[in-house]
Amino acid sequence: MTLWGGAFKLPPDESLRRLNDSIGYDRRMYAQDIAGSIAYAGALVRAGVINYEEADAIVGGLEQVLEEFKTDTFVLKDGDEDIHTAVERRLTELIGEPAGKLHTGRSRNDQVATDFRLWVMDALDHLDLQLAALQTALIDRAEQHTETLMPGYTHFQPAQPIVAGHWLMSYVWMLARDRARLADARARTAVSPLGAGALAGHPFGIDRATLAQELGFASCSQNSLDAVADRDFAAEALFICALLGVHLSRLGEDIVIYSNPALGFITLDDRYSTGSSIMPQKRNADPMEIARGKAGRLVGNLTGLLTTLKGLPSSYNKDLQDDKQPTFEAFDTLDLLLPVVTAIVATLHFNVGRMSAALGEDLLATDLAEYLVRKGMPFRQAHGIIGKVVRAASDAEVAISQLPLERLREFSPLFEADVAAVLSFERSVAARDATGGTAPDAVRRQIETARAWMAAHKR
Ligand code: ARG
Repeated sequence: MTLWGGAFKLPPDESLRRLNDSIGYDRRMYAQDIAGSIAYAGALVRAGVINYEEADAIVGGLEQVLEEFKTDTFVLKDGDEDIHTAVERRLTELIGEPAGKLHTGRSRNDQVATDFRLWVMDALDHLDLQLAALQTALIDRAEQHTETLMPGYTHFQPAQPIVAGHWLMSYVWMLARDRARLADARARTAVSPLGAGALAGHPFGIDRATLAQELGFASCSQNSLDAVADRDFAAEALFICALLGVHLSRLGEDIVIYSNPALGFITLDDRYSTGSSIMPQKRNADPMEIARGKAGRLVGNLTGLLTTLKGLPSSYNKDLQDDKQPTFEAFDTLDLLLPVVTAIVATLHFNVGRMSAALGEDLLATDLAEYLVRKGMPFRQAHGIIGKVVRAASDAEVAISQLPLERLREFSPLFEADVAAVLSFERSVAARDATGGTAPDAVRRQIETARAWMAAHKR
């Protein structure tokens, strides 16, 4: 039995049902669907469409249906196309006639848009908490490593010394932008389509603003055609997930590289690394490779939905039913991934000795150029001279510090005995103390700023 067969002589073919039915995946919106219907029953009473007894019966019945879903005792029946029809069918079985009044003025078009927005709002809130937990783990670890020296890379070539805390903190700010985007998108999601009807609006004088508020929306939509078709909120949510996926893929890559024995800067805790079935020595950073790889699916989900939305004519079209699976998948993926990434960060072992052993004096070439600048030489010229010094040391197969002062003075008379002090990694990082730099003091201030940001963005 379908809820719409009145004008049809034949029931839908089995093959159409298999194609058309969405109950397999939209049943997870049962709580939102039932909350929407309970609030809607109240709005119908206030509009004088149903009486209190009918509303009582409807709400009582819906509460029982909710219980059945929660306890996994809800039995699907033939014709349960989607979550909306399934709930209404069961309500009718439970309370009889009043159930038939619930859909007055309502369409599955405004209903599904309402349910889906409520679902995405919850999912965004949950994601925000998981992101805050990851940020906290990163900040806590950064605090322990404000003085731990390691090579910083550009083009993955050794560039300048940094402290490990600075590296960890770089991800905190990416996640801060993700969370800011999330809060912004959530505000646009919290607009209620309920009462837009199929496409043209509500004919029974319903108070949509109050109905919206009761459901936790901030306001109600202003155009019924737009309301039933608007999936911008899902596309925005998927963009947030995709860009977050890109950020996690970069963290994944850093951790894969830094934990490789060739560098050996970090070791993943036993609980979060995997071995090989043939090579007993292997320690693979599988979870961070998964983090790196999942970005592909997350970007794909966004691309898929945008492509579904492109070129749709006004108001509701069944294409829109394909909005849910990519969205559910994106949030499910992150829900699995984020706790593991957070635990990996929290339990990561830092091999401080390996990090400092990887620092070559070459990484101080910029500092040497800056030394000449402090003696009055234009930076461009200093850059050229230090290039020659680096080359001379490498040709002689010695460290720069082993070149005698007289040799250095052949490149510039500005070199004096105090140049020796420049060849210190500690001095190099400490010098970079402007806001946002890698100096331990600057990193400590950065951490303080991040903690204040976290407090201001607590939910
Ligand atoms: N299952 C549908 C969806 O997810 C619900 C809306 C159906 N509306 C309709 N007019 N067929 O979009």
